[in-house]
Amino acid sequence: MMIIATKISEVREQVRAWKAEGLTVGLVPTMGYLHEGHASLVDRAVAECDRVVASDFVNPTQFAPGEDLESYPRDFEHDCALLEQHGCDMVFYPEVSEMYEQDAATYVEILSDMPKQLCGKTRPTHFRGVCTVVAKLFNIVTPDKAFFGQKDAQQLAIIRRMVRDMSYGIEIVGCPIIREEDGLAKSSRNTYLNAEERQAALVLSKAVRLGQELVKSGERDAQKVVGEMVSLIEGEPLTRIDYVSAVDGITMENVTEITDGTLVAMAVYVGKTRLIDNFIAEV
Ligand code: PAF
Repeated sequence: MMIIATKISEVREQVRAWKAEGLTVGLVPTMGYLHEGHASLVDRAVAECDRVVASDFVNPTQFAPGEDLESYPRDFEHDCALLEQHGCDMVFYPEVSEMYEQDAATYVEILSDMPKQLCGKTRPTHFRGVCTVVAKLFNIVTPDKAFFGQKDAQQLAIIRRMVRDMSYGIEIVGCPIIREEDGLAKSSRNTYLNAEERQAALVLSKAVRLGQELVKSGERDAQKVVGEMVSLIEGEPLTRIDYVSAVDGITMENVTEITDGTLVAMAVYVGKTRLIDNFIAEV
């Protein structure tokens, strides 16, 4: 039976017992409303670690006022069923008050431009919230490895940087984007889309494919690749582009030339829903 822990002390005690037995521990941090993308992270963690902990916590500090914190979809029963089915050993499901004291005033923040690029332009406090909660989860679970999806490419790069800068000694494993059969990247936010928007949302993965094909055919001019992707997306009337950018896969700084490892990433509103997708250039 999977353990459901709501208190930090329960997690610490269980992890301590596992470690005393010489077992390795993997962490899959999530905000719940789990789908096959999350399941793939759990599968990978189960394959690489003796014990797997998933966290299921809609983290308020990574949402700005006016974002979708209150409406963010939740279904803990379904999450538990999925986690258990995929071999997760413990889910950490804390209340907000367990994670944040009323007067909590400490944040973990990367002070370079990295969190200001891409999603950081419209969500300036988002990555500070992500780093803070992930740092806390690392301190609570003390995993050997932690598993994150490549769909949130900027988040993954930022977590790698935080781990390096803070000497966490945790191996960060990036896992491939999982897509619906028609190409749409799996996301808990896909649930916000009505039928018409769901159809329109396909333009993101089509733009990814177009970008990949251009790179494959030899195009190395980042502006040209991005420009073609933008034109394709703009042809879909229900969408509004937040950004489409080609950046260095590690620093997130804009590049003019596509090279191996360049991240081509986008955020696009479909109706009111903001979706992201990306690919890493293979040259
Ligand atoms: O990717 C997510 O779901 C969240 O940003 C994370 C990493 C669980 C932190 O709240």
